[in-house]
Amino acid sequence: MSSKHRLLVKNATQVVVICNHGEKFVTKHGMQKLSVIENGSIVIGSDGLIKAVGPSEIIRVQFSEASFDKVIDATGMCVLPGLVDAHTHPVWAGDRVHEFAMKLAGATYMDVHRAGGGIHFTVEHTRAARSAELLASLSNRLVRMQRAGTTLVECKSGYGLELQTELKMLEVIEEARRTLPINISSTYCGAHAVPKGKTVAEATQDILQVQLPRLEELMSAGTLRVDNIDVFCEQGVFDLSSTCSILQAGKDMGLNINFHGDELHPMNSAQLGAQLGALAISHLEEVTDEGIAAMATSRTAAVLLPTTAYILRLPQPRARDMLDAGVVVALGSDFNPNAYCCSMPIVMHLACVNMRMSMPEALAAATINAAYALGRSHTHGSLEVNKHGDLLVLDTTRWEHLIYQLGGHQELIRYVVVKGNVV
Ligand code: NIG
Ligand code: FE
Repeated sequence: MSSKHRLLVKNATQVVVICNHGEKFVTKHGMQKLSVIENGSIVIGSDGLIKAVGPSEIIRVQFSEASFDKVIDATGMCVLPGLVDAHTHPVWAGDRVHEFAMKLAGATYMDVHRAGGGIHFTVEHTRAARSAELLASLSNRLVRMQRAGTTLVECKSGYGLELQTELKMLEVIEEARRTLPINISSTYCGAHAVPKGKTVAEATQDILQVQLPRLEELMSAGTLRVDNIDVFCEQGVFDLSSTCSILQAGKDMGLNINFHGDELHPMNSAQLGAQLGALAISHLEEVTDEGIAAMATSRTAAVLLPTTAYILRLPQPRARDMLDAGVVVALGSDFNPNAYCCSMPIVMHLACVNMRMSMPEALAAATINAAYALGRSHTHGSLEVNKHGDLLVLDTTRWEHLIYQLGGHQELIRYVVVKGNVV
């Protein structure tokens, strides 16, 4: 064999492959029964892609250790795919810790929002911030996420609500994508709130006639890469019909639809998303039975966010009903100034305890299905040949410890690997 391989992780007590045969997502039984190799090894080639994964004795015969740049002896340890966080708002300035105190004292999310705080508070500070400042705090947050095992993360704009700041945020995300060893899926979320002093109709027109056309120009010129379009579809924010026009316009530009829906009120967002061919809808605390059925049929992923329901003391998203109906259930941290959580292991723990998911279901939701929600499950989300060599090595003989242990992941996660490089 001529070229050197990048990484061999050998003799792991368990290698959690997740799923086989290039499945784009898993539902129902596929989520309960993950593919796990006992005493396994994995090979990452010089291109950063997985070359082989299987029982250690077979890999040992096929690959000489001398052909590897690096070898990790994972005896007594577990290997899992890198975690995928399908929903975050990580670019912002300003501190909202005082709002946490208000909410603990009884204020609701919408009380704070209507009083000019919440998203509006963050918009004011983000508009005033320089790009370098936003990039520094974004990098810091992404490193924290990565230390907790995230190797692919969705990052939204949405604290500008006008062209200039929305572009500033997307450019900062693009710079992070170019410079940091973490995979990013970027989302334009100019319809995250109606700017102060504007009506919904005026905000919608600004997005359709000013923001999206400029975005399209930059994307066609190759100056900016954006993957998804998002709208906060909610009473007092964007109604169903404005949501529909904005998402359709984004889809016409080639963006994947991935939006906030049915969070605080039933809005028929799930039905709308299914009808528009949305890749994913997030939140869904207030989804109806009809909405669940529509998402199951359209294969629109439900990105559930246990931190939000926990912090705002909302009803729990109906994970079990969605799983039973065959919906593709994914998870996200919803990292933002309201839900300050960088850790997907904690998100999985909350999903298990509060939303009654099993540990295999939670792991599938935080890997292959989260990758599907971002249109990346052909390259990420499981440890299959030809996918990216993005993985975690855990210092434990049972992978479930990643979910069972509440906190302390820096010690449990021994290595985070992206494309075969330890980061
Ligand atoms: O997903 N629900 C809307 N957007 C965010 C919160 C953003 C904020 O409060 O700054 C969410 O929870
Ligand atoms: Fe969100």
